[in-house]
Amino acid sequence: MSGDPRLWRTHGPDILDRSAAERRRLGSAFTTWLQLLSGPLTMIICCRRLPKRRWGGELFEPAAARSELPGPPPGDDEFSRTTYLLVAPGTNPDALRLLESLQASCQVETSPASRLPALGEGPWSERGRALLVGGRWLSSLRMAGSPGVEVEAGWLWELASTPGEFDLAVRVVPRPQAAADRSLRRRLRGLLAQELVGSLSGPDPRLEVAAHAARELRQVLARSGGRLFHVEMTVSLCGDSAAEVKAMVAGFRTRAAALRMNWTPAWFDELPARLETLGRPLPGGRPQILMPTEEVGTLWPWVATTEPGVEEQTVIGRHQRTGALVTLEAGHQDGHPNRNLAVVAASGGGKSYLAGLVGLEAARRGQAVVVLDPENEHGRWCSAVGGEYLDLAQSPGCGFNALELGSTAEALALAVDLIDVLTGPLSQQERSAALRAATHVIESSGPHRAGVLGDCLARLEQEEVGRDLAGRLAPWVTGEAGLLFSSPGRGPSVRTSCVIGLRDLPESWLAGATLLVSAWLNYWLKAAPGVKQIIVDEAGLLSDVAALRSLMARLARRARKYQGSLMLLTQTGSDLTGSSFGEVVAVNAATVLLGAQQELGARRLQQAFGLDDSDRMWLQQAGRGDFLMVSDTTRTPVRVEAPQRYRAWLGAGRSQE
Ligand SMILES: Nc1ncnc2c1ncn2[C@@H]1O[C@H](COP(=O)(O)OP(=O)(O)OP(=O)(O)O)[C@@H](O)[C@H]1O
Ligand SMILES: [Mg+2]
Repeated sequence: MSGDPRLWRTHGPDILDRSAAERRRLGSAFTTWLQLLSGPLTMIICCRRLPKRRWGGELFEPAAARSELPGPPPGDDEFSRTTYLLVAPGTNPDALRLLESLQASCQVETSPASRLPALGEGPWSERGRALLVGGRWLSSLRMAGSPGVEVEAGWLWELASTPGEFDLAVRVVPRPQAAADRSLRRRLRGLLAQELVGSLSGPDPRLEVAAHAARELRQVLARSGGRLFHVEMTVSLCGDSAAEVKAMVAGFRTRAAALRMNWTPAWFDELPARLETLGRPLPGGRPQILMPTEEVGTLWPWVATTEPGVEEQTVIGRHQRTGALVTLEAGHQDGHPNRNLAVVAASGGGKSYLAGLVGLEAARRGQAVVVLDPENEHGRWCSAVGGEYLDLAQSPGCGFNALELGSTAEALALAVDLIDVLTGPLSQQERSAALRAATHVIESSGPHRAGVLGDCLARLEQEEVGRDLAGRLAPWVTGEAGLLFSSPGRGPSVRTSCVIGLRDLPESWLAGATLLVSAWLNYWLKAAPGVKQIIVDEAGLLSDVAALRSLMARLARRARKYQGSLMLLTQTGSDLTGSSFGEVVAVNAATVLLGAQQELGARRLQQAFGLDDSDRMWLQQAGRGDFLMVSDTTRTPVRVEAPQRYRAWLGAGRSQE
């Protein structure tokens, strides 16, 4: 070997969180990539305990007060798993090209690393069953046989899920064709000899199986493209005491046994085994398993990699399989800070809880939040963070004036749509009359556009065609209704957060009120500075009105341009897929969170979002607070969990009752 081995820190997709098609694609890309190897490759999964992290609610506190908070609760240890690759430039002369090809074909990011993170540092001494390094205990085991069950790419997770710190090294050495064939022939001859000797006492099934496997490997060799590899695996488990590491060894062996895999402890050989997990094996003497390329291709080593830096991200809970904190940003593969989000779950699935959590997280990060709240559920958390609660049924104190929102053209279109929604469908002539009246009011009210919808009445009454319309409009622009539909004002000025409660509005007001508020949202999105989060709970209730649907679709389309993110929550997938409005939202929602569903609903979602059967089953079995985060080809199973500080604000959250 010439030159130094090269170490690379890598970050690749957790293949188990991908759609079936993507798993197949990545698995076969990895298999193809392995064929490029001309020398040994070592993949080392380093699992380390993360320092306890504060997240969510605690971070609301100013930094000074934060240090006085009690520490994070015990339990729920978090681990980071990082995969390092070690390629020897002497045997893989084109190591860099090799890595580039890995990046391109398997979406793996690589960066050079000088060393592996230490498990223990300081003086070391060897015991029979452990290596003591800097006061820590390391025990190693070696693979003595490949899995006895059928495995797919990602199966290493079964071993890497061992709680605790460890280095798991997988060394893959391509065998030259001729040498591999020679050793297989030797092996077959040996097996045949054993069979002959043993035949006197009847056939031995173990010999038959071994001979069958060796013949199959020879066939692989004979097929063009098939290659054979020697695979070695060693794990060094690390604890702070002999008892801790002993328990880890037992846990690891249980996991291996579930795979019908045999691992032998490296007793009295601990130092050489540790050198193997550091990527510096001593020559010879270890168990080596011969595997064809397809089998080696299942050794995908990027499993459950943890995202750092949750402080600056929206934490929505924990990964169901790995226990790692999950952030909304994790689903945004283009790294854009804010994207639309669609949430679909049956009633009681935990949508509003999730909406509140996202709202709180946005407020924590200094974003302006507006919630459209048809069930008046979001008042409590909003007040707790100093936000404003506007109950539209209780004369809100700030007007949403159709004639003031947006450009003149937008205001005119809105005024006509609003009249249409309030008075019942307008005939073509009535529409023109309404437009003339609104134009007149805007033109005559000066640059500040102080005119309100009620001012249209006088102008309408001057026209034959407008008289009947004026009669229908009058009740909406006077009295109680007038306070909402015909008051001056450009909506609330949102300081931190603002919840707009719609629940207690008379049924017949709902469409008009939501139309006005949606128009205001469009106006606010464009006019307000900074990052904005808009949350529309129970969007299904709102989508009956065409004008409203088109405003919401516009909001979805434009959100990103104005640093906004729209979160739409609804009970059924058909709200998102059965209408043009929904399609705009679904297309513009880079991330979709799907929660509990009955079979029929789950089938519809499967069709709409291209889910696998296993995803559909997951949805059918999901409980309250379980969501599948779907983004492109990623499917992350999330258990929505709010930090302690938020829980009282979110639970049983119907305030203002
Ligand atoms: N992740 C969670 N952790 C703890 N409690 C939760 C969680 N999700 C939901 N809940 C609780 O379950 C109940 C129902 O949840 P929620 O109101 O969010 O459901 P929903 O999907 O919005 O239902 P609906 O469609 O009827 O509005 C609430 O009391 C809520 O506090
Ligand atoms: Mg709800």
